[in-house]
Amino acid sequence: MGSKPVMWNVLVTNAFLFLLLFSLFSSVTASVTYDEKAIIINGQRRILMSGSIHYPRSTPEMWPDLIQKAKDGGLDVIQTYVFWNGHEPSPGNYYFQGRYDLVGFIKLVKQAGLYVHLRIGPYVCAEWNFGGFPVWLKYIPGMVFRSDNEPFKAAMQKFTNKIVDMMKAERLFESQGGPIIMSQIENEYGPVEYELGDSAKAYAKWAAEMAVGLGTGVPWIMCKEDDAPDPIINTCNDFYCDWFSPNKAYKPKMWTENWTGWYTEFGGPVPHRPAEDVAFSVAKFIQKGGSFVNYYMYHGGTNFGRTAGGPFIATSYDYDAPIDEYGLLRQPKWGHLRDLHKAIKLCEHALVSANPTVTKLGSNQEAHVFQSKSGACAAFLANYDSNSFATVSFRNTKYNLPPWSISILPDCKNTVFNTARIGSQSAQMKMTPASVGVGGFSWQSYNEETASVEDSSFTVAGLLEQINVTRDSTDYLWYMTTVQIGPNEIFLKNGQLPVLTVMSAGHALHVFINGQLSGTAYGSLENPKLTFSGSVPLRAGINKISLLSLSVGLPNVGIHYETWNAGVLGPVTLKGLNEGRRDLSWQKWSYKIGLKGEALSLHTLSGSSSVEWVEGSQMARKQPLTWYKAIFNAPAGNEPLAVDMNSMGKGQIWINGQSIGRYWPAYKASGTCGGCSYAGTYTSTKCQSNCGEASQRWYHLPRSWLKPTGNLLVLFEEWGGNPTGISLVSRTVQSVCADIFEGQPTQTGWEMKASGKVQGTLRPKAHLWCAPGQKISSIKFASYGTPQGMCGSFQEGNCHAHKSYDAFEKRCIGQQLCSITIAPEVFGGDPCPSTRKKLSVEAVCK
Ligand code: GAL
Repeated sequence: MGSKPVMWNVLVTNAFLFLLLFSLFSSVTASVTYDEKAIIINGQRRILMSGSIHYPRSTPEMWPDLIQKAKDGGLDVIQTYVFWNGHEPSPGNYYFQGRYDLVGFIKLVKQAGLYVHLRIGPYVCAEWNFGGFPVWLKYIPGMVFRSDNEPFKAAMQKFTNKIVDMMKAERLFESQGGPIIMSQIENEYGPVEYELGDSAKAYAKWAAEMAVGLGTGVPWIMCKEDDAPDPIINTCNDFYCDWFSPNKAYKPKMWTENWTGWYTEFGGPVPHRPAEDVAFSVAKFIQKGGSFVNYYMYHGGTNFGRTAGGPFIATSYDYDAPIDEYGLLRQPKWGHLRDLHKAIKLCEHALVSANPTVTKLGSNQEAHVFQSKSGACAAFLANYDSNSFATVSFRNTKYNLPPWSISILPDCKNTVFNTARIGSQSAQMKMTPASVGVGGFSWQSYNEETASVEDSSFTVAGLLEQINVTRDSTDYLWYMTTVQIGPNEIFLKNGQLPVLTVMSAGHALHVFINGQLSGTAYGSLENPKLTFSGSVPLRAGINKISLLSLSVGLPNVGIHYETWNAGVLGPVTLKGLNEGRRDLSWQKWSYKIGLKGEALSLHTLSGSSSVEWVEGSQMARKQPLTWYKAIFNAPAGNEPLAVDMNSMGKGQIWINGQSIGRYWPAYKASGTCGGCSYAGTYTSTKCQSNCGEASQRWYHLPRSWLKPTGNLLVLFEEWGGNPTGISLVSRTVQSVCADIFEGQPTQTGWEMKASGKVQGTLRPKAHLWCAPGQKISSIKFASYGTPQGMCGSFQEGNCHAHKSYDAFEKRCIGQQLCSITIAPEVFGGDPCPSTRKKLSVEAVCK
């Protein structure tokens, strides 16, 4: 009897200890860890699909929708860099508002139930101005970027600390119950280390230790950094990463940048990456045991203001991403990847529990099988041949594999997805004129006079480096000097004008002689340097030479890119004078930073009302150095808007005081364009468009920057474009297409299979849906048989069911969406019984 209370005490104490231990244990498991297979969250190994959305490349008003679309697209994680130069515009002066509201962005991701991968960097590359570094950083005495250099390390540590502390204070790390499951320090430092050797290695080690020392409770990764020290995970960035293995057997195989397309540069064509190839690359990675894939970019967005890097990176950072620059779905890419994610998730259990066994199925075909001890089995059947179909036999069943494709079998039996068979619809987008009030834009102009010596801020002997002078506060720097021409110069009589040659380190240059534009020269991303050489109309007496030198975004990548120069560094020479050649490089040069209109803030309402504008017939047209403004009303509706700048040359554009970015439609894209096959190794120049046309014609104007009436659009034109050609357009779905093979696995089919509702073969369906508010108004094309071509340009083949249109016309017209089963009886019978058929349909949305 007497021992009972003691027993009870022991029991209570044990239970208490157990609870304590349990809660300790569970709080440990609530943090994020990893093993050789995967990232482990709450004790679970996870196959994670992630997508990059850079918060300053869209507006806060767009964020919830972008995040929701990412979630609907089957993503688990949103990845973003942190943009130091946006957050610390001057030393110690921080900014986290508006598009730079990092905490707000992360909280929205959390609200949507997704995780965050935070790439603090703080070097980010990203085609972002100066790779994310504030320009003032360069001017800290003794500074050497991204190296074992005390001033750099101190500044980097301070900013990294600042961000980590902010995240901790807001309890945003997963270890605190927040959404951040991983962070990144540095960015692709491996290639730099390779070039620079030991001192770079010391820096990488320091960066790693500094990051780990911050105690975030979640793993750190370093991308493209083969010697990332433990516990940091080294990861892969590339178009394909199946070849990659982490540097230790106990780290998971992760892919931080699967490039969904590529960036556009002014002067370059627009790159596209076929959805089939993106899906193929992902399946190939997963079948080799990969467990984390991030799409760079999932939404690329816009380089607003002067945030584009390069130099010469375009304002659009669309990237051919699954969500387009405007926030609309890019179809079929978004849908095809969503279907891929669903297929992979059906395999998740087998993938995280087993290592793949690989069997050859043919000379260029393989099976990767994940068979878990508990009986789960998932198989990936791959055909690497980029030209031929393959019929393979796997576990006594025949499977037909299109070229360059992988089929996914979540039960090792039924194909639910093939990377080259798109079940999702594709969409053709269009830019439709949008109304800004009666008669379109009504423009007024203001002349930015050519600066001359009298306007200068200072004068020195010789030519100065541009960024040292402007500190990148503006794209514009005037270099001004005078040239005395004697009355006896022979050219004054024979009319053979002297030739002025100006060598510049970049990026663009307008040459004015006595106030008149005499010519323009510019470099490119590959070679920002330029030489202007042209005859100039000098006259007897004193001549004013004014060179307007422009930067077009600071470099964001390259060994010690912070030391790269811009501006007129010379020599500057005149040839064809009586004396022969005159070198102007070392004479007195006067400088003026920025434009008069910039100093007056002409882009704002108050600034623009401080000067007299000219309108009507007096208005400047096709004049260089001209400011234009127009007041307009917002078009009805909520479709995304863009400004069509095709009639313009080069400059910058603002709406209600906000900078939309640099425009440069006069820079035509040179390169190779044309159709491209999804099959075969992709490179960034494989599939391009816009050759011979503007690299970028349309400029995104976020809806949230507009008021219903009285919006102020301002632009500064450097070259002499014609503003009357500018128009506002809205971006909408023009038509939607389905292009589906008989017997092809489709989403609905395998959803039903996965739920156990259906066994055996399912007939695929074509799904068509227009945007909310739109309806299918007509069927532009429909053919069940052997149609050819692509969405927008389908053609009938030799075999065509005569009732191909009927089913669609009956069931789709007047609807926002419709689904039609692909089977002979639906189209009035089989038009060619022994041939493999497909259905191609294009429906117009209105
Ligand atoms: C990667 C880099 C990214 C981005 C990308 C190209 O190497 O890490 O920041 O620059 O290239 O778009």
